Amino acid sequence: MDKNVGKKESFIIEGLAGQKSLFGTIKINGAKNAALKAFAAAVLFDGAVELKNVPHTSDIDTISSILEKLGAKVQGKDSIFKVDTSALKSTDIDRELAAIMRASVVLTGPMLARFGKVTFPAPGGCVIGARRIDLFLSGYEKMGATVKLDDKKCLYSIEAPGGLKGASITFNKISVGATETLMMAAVLAEGKTTLNNCAREPEIVNVAEWLNECGAKISGVGTSVIEIEGTGGKLLSPAVPFITIPDRIEAGSYLILGALCAHDLEITNCRPDHLEALTSFLIDAGVPIQIKKLGARSLEQGEIRIVGNTNPNSSFKSFTVKTQEYPGFATDLQPIIAVFLTQVSGKSKIEETIYEGRFKYVEDLVKMGADIKAVDEHQILVKGSTDFDQLPEGQELCAHDIRAGFAIVMAALVGQGSFTVNNVHLIDRGYEKLEERLTKLGANIKRLSK
Ligand code: UD1
Repeated sequence: MDKNVGKKESFIIEGLAGQKSLFGTIKINGAKNAALKAFAAAVLFDGAVELKNVPHTSDIDTISSILEKLGAKVQGKDSIFKVDTSALKSTDIDRELAAIMRASVVLTGPMLARFGKVTFPAPGGCVIGARRIDLFLSGYEKMGATVKLDDKKCLYSIEAPGGLKGASITFNKISVGATETLMMAAVLAEGKTTLNNCAREPEIVNVAEWLNECGAKISGVGTSVIEIEGTGGKLLSPAVPFITIPDRIEAGSYLILGALCAHDLEITNCRPDHLEALTSFLIDAGVPIQIKKLGARSLEQGEIRIVGNTNPNSSFKSFTVKTQEYPGFATDLQPIIAVFLTQVSGKSKIEETIYEGRFKYVEDLVKMGADIKAVDEHQILVKGSTDFDQLPEGQELCAHDIRAGFAIVMAALVGQGSFTVNNVHLIDRGYEKLEERLTKLGANIKRLSK
């Protein structure tokens, strides 16, 4: 994979000037944040695993390349991947590839569990706040590993020569990555591990249920206490394929976009129960939403429809949002809901409790005409509704991270005139073929290589 692919690409977007002319159907892809972890979990298996409903995002290319560099065989066709880690020969996670994506740190858990050692660079990823890894490191230490940091090379070496030992670990902060990584590490450990104050995201449940079907003994997943009875080094057997759950962040992104830009939009293959924190806000704001839930089985899917959405966006009511761990309002939807709130009438406050520094996109929205004031690094005040005007000649917009990138694309679609959005490679990390899908809905958006 060429890591420069897409780095010089931009979107040129013709704004709809507040018209809600988009319509059609969006079929939601598998959740990248679940699939990425299943790729990492492949290291826990004896033999090749099959992963289904995997999205075509560049983060999936990155984790595939990291595994291949370690000696794994990765084959992908359409949305089905086969990952075989039988011949892994290295325990050194590639520095350049790891720098592209923070989720690479998740791989350290399975690697350490299987080989008793791993080296990896300080992780990369979206530029959102400090993004520490202290919870991973102290968890490994509790499980008997030794952590060394080479300051000059910014390289961590972790070793547990006799294998990881079960432990009781209490996270002092709720972390998705630390929860799933320590959970995976504990699967092959000796004895019982208890993880307290865990994240409860559906993507963690998705991976844990699959691991259990393949021989792991994980209980309590989806609650704040997870217990894992380790296999004592015995690898899992690939009894069933991993089936990725629908991406709730992709579904939520298109739903908010539909609320502002579409008169009718059908979002299929999604899990409405994973999106309740968002849909309840939108329904209260006045967005005409219909929800069709299917059964309660975890792999069944439902639909969300926006129907007859013809009133102006200024007729929607404002609301106040506070991001929280699941099942609260997802931080990944925060930049996208901010654009929604610039278009509705009234004042609103957004409080970002998960990250500091997740408001970089505000500058671009203000450039377009939004009335947004920063209170501090965790809070902004938004006053709507404001029109987004054509920018002066030569001024362009920027995707600061995956989700802020989608937010800026959406702002351009709402606006009047032609807009250039740079840094499209960041959007590609999380949204499959965004311009193709928006074009099918009736948008005028082109990808340009500079
Ligand atoms: C995952 C998601 C990301 C989402 C985030 C929160 C993936 C690939 N990414 O990221 O899209 O925004 O959950 O829902 O699944 N923290 C520490 N020390 C640690 C680990 C985390 O202080 O050792 C802090 C982070 O800096 C952050 C907070 O905990 O402020 C939450 O981060 P975390 O839940 O770990 O996010 P990720 O798993 O990286």
